Amino acid sequence: MKNPSRYLITAALPYANGPLHLGHIAGAYLPADIYARYQKLRGKDVAFICGSDEHGAAITLRAKKEGVSPQEIVDRYHEINKKAFSDLGIDFSIYHRTSSPEHHETAQAFFKALNEKDAFTIKTTEQFYDEENKQFLADRYITGECPKCHHPNAYGDQCEKCGSTLSPTDLINPKSVLSGNEPVLKETSHWFLPMERHEKWLSEWIQEGTLDGKAQHNPKEWRNQVVGQCMSWINGGLQPRAMTRDLDWGVKVPLENAEGKVLYVWLDAPIGYISATKKWAADNNKNWEDYWKKDDTKLIHFIGKDNIVFHSIIFPILLKEYGDFILPDNVPANEFLNLEGDKFSTSRNWAVWLHEYLEDLPNKEDELRFVLASIFPESKDSEFTWKDYQDRVNNELVAIFGNFVNRVMVLTNKYYKGFVPMAFHLTKEDKAVIKEVKELGKKLGNSLEAYRFREGLTHAMNIARLGNKYLADMEPWKLVNDDPDRVSTIMKVALQITVNLAVAFYPFMPEKARVLKNMLNIKRNLTWKDLGSFTVLQEIERINKPELLFNKIEDSLITEQLNKLEEAKLAHKPHEPIKDEISFEDFTKLDIRVGKIIEAEKVKKANKLLKLTVDIGFEKRTIVSGIAEYYTPEDVLGKHVTVLLNLAPRKIRGVESQGMILMAENNKGELGFVSPIEDRIKEGNSIG
Ligand code: 2FM
Ligand code: ZN
Repeated sequence: MKNPSRYLITAALPYANGPLHLGHIAGAYLPADIYARYQKLRGKDVAFICGSDEHGAAITLRAKKEGVSPQEIVDRYHEINKKAFSDLGIDFSIYHRTSSPEHHETAQAFFKALNEKDAFTIKTTEQFYDEENKQFLADRYITGECPKCHHPNAYGDQCEKCGSTLSPTDLINPKSVLSGNEPVLKETSHWFLPMERHEKWLSEWIQEGTLDGKAQHNPKEWRNQVVGQCMSWINGGLQPRAMTRDLDWGVKVPLENAEGKVLYVWLDAPIGYISATKKWAADNNKNWEDYWKKDDTKLIHFIGKDNIVFHSIIFPILLKEYGDFILPDNVPANEFLNLEGDKFSTSRNWAVWLHEYLEDLPNKEDELRFVLASIFPESKDSEFTWKDYQDRVNNELVAIFGNFVNRVMVLTNKYYKGFVPMAFHLTKEDKAVIKEVKELGKKLGNSLEAYRFREGLTHAMNIARLGNKYLADMEPWKLVNDDPDRVSTIMKVALQITVNLAVAFYPFMPEKARVLKNMLNIKRNLTWKDLGSFTVLQEIERINKPELLFNKIEDSLITEQLNKLEEAKLAHKPHEPIKDEISFEDFTKLDIRVGKIIEAEKVKKANKLLKLTVDIGFEKRTIVSGIAEYYTPEDVLGKHVTVLLNLAPRKIRGVESQGMILMAENNKGELGFVSPIEDRIKEGNSIG
């Protein structure tokens, strides 16, 4: 769309069931924020919409596990995520919630309207049901063996080990998460969206950018992976999809005979964009319908690749069926960001959590924004590593951008006590550099318009590179005595380049841009028009005291973060499968008693073994125990321990071991004694 009157920018509503990690930020929120800031800088009317997705089985499941209500879970993570976004400078017009009454009302009305238009078909299918808990089981409530990789704990919708998308009926030995019982199949009715009805117009709209023969968007601007994924769905034949679920948490289906049924995420979360816009409009004296229904509004959905079909097929069907709504002009979905050679994984705690980054590296939010924007997975998966983070900050922000700004500021103070110098005669070198800055500014704008943020960032950084080269070539420090007018002109040009940097980097690093603007003592708001302009400084008499824009990232900080990740990995070592069940009778065969270690020594030539003498009251036993990696003989001497007495004697390294000291492992694989409370139970007592 050429000259839209307003922009409606949405970012996928994150589930409020856990904190955000860098993968989320690089996927949808930061690109959306850069785009929104850029359009606002151009003076455009922008609504930038997001909020918490507070429904779904993952939330109720988490609530059950923690023994709290789902509302408590979403209240907690709504606040955490809202704050983390704001601390990172993600400047939503509104960060709304789908548990709000406004949203429930809007979503129900939307469903009703579609239902009245016969947009749904009702179908009865068989779904897994937990007889003990008398409830149908959402996909996440069923676990079992993955049919593909045989991971024992795959979910009904997905195996987190091999990443396969599954149906609950695909699982081998399915179990209800609620009762542990095998679920039974039982009939239930749901509202389905007959997507197959929409294949024709969708395929035209996606491939040609036309709707009913009218041009809507430029299909060449859509990313390959978005068009590719949509067309592979459409060409494979669209299937009816259930738009409702049996669950007691969510937006209730607003019809009779629909007890226990709620809207599924597809009919819930994207309508959250609409209800949030309504709320924002009401609070800001705007008309929400201008943003959703007027042809001169440009609607853009920022999402990760897991939401492509949802925003490019399902939501457009819903909007078109409802009528009067515009369709997205683009859905610039990102691929995935990986972390240090592995996928981000919430369940394995393999993540850099945004709120932890902000705590561990205070005042470095723009450094993070910069590094993430440099590696956005725009056309293929990309990777965050701490070493790369350090390199980019030190070699680009500190050595190029920061260095240029600092040189200009220091020289202006040295030569002119901070007063902005005059430009006299502009040489062809001066004119060339001014022209090039203007061109880079244009290129940057074009890249941002086309959602090519990485490319845009390169253009912005090239302005700083150009500034450094200009100073190095002009060498004003050599002319100070002989040609003060020339020095003054060079410094004026260099200072104006820094003004351009404050504009060019504003969408990427808003806080640093603000600091730079303050250093330059610019009081008014800068706009996109100031990029390429060399007149802003005419308004300024004297610059402020300079400060360093960026500091080097030390090795120790990187090591700390890498250690933190390593610890997280250890803590989530896959559990050993639990051994086969034994009977009570089997258990009573064990003769377990309390003993005291009275002698301890290392077994020669064996790193792991200690030879212990244990006093069990009525006799003493020699026991060889594999604990030397964790305990020295001194550590264990005098310790009360539990001993399995009737284990058949075995020779270990030539020593007969007459029993076993009981040890247990925690989930990190660390070994500890199973020991009695020493003051109450002494050697010779039996346990069990
Ligand atoms: O996939 C998700 O994260 C869901 N919370 C839906 C996000 S897209 C939406 F908001 F439409
Ligand atoms: Zn699997």
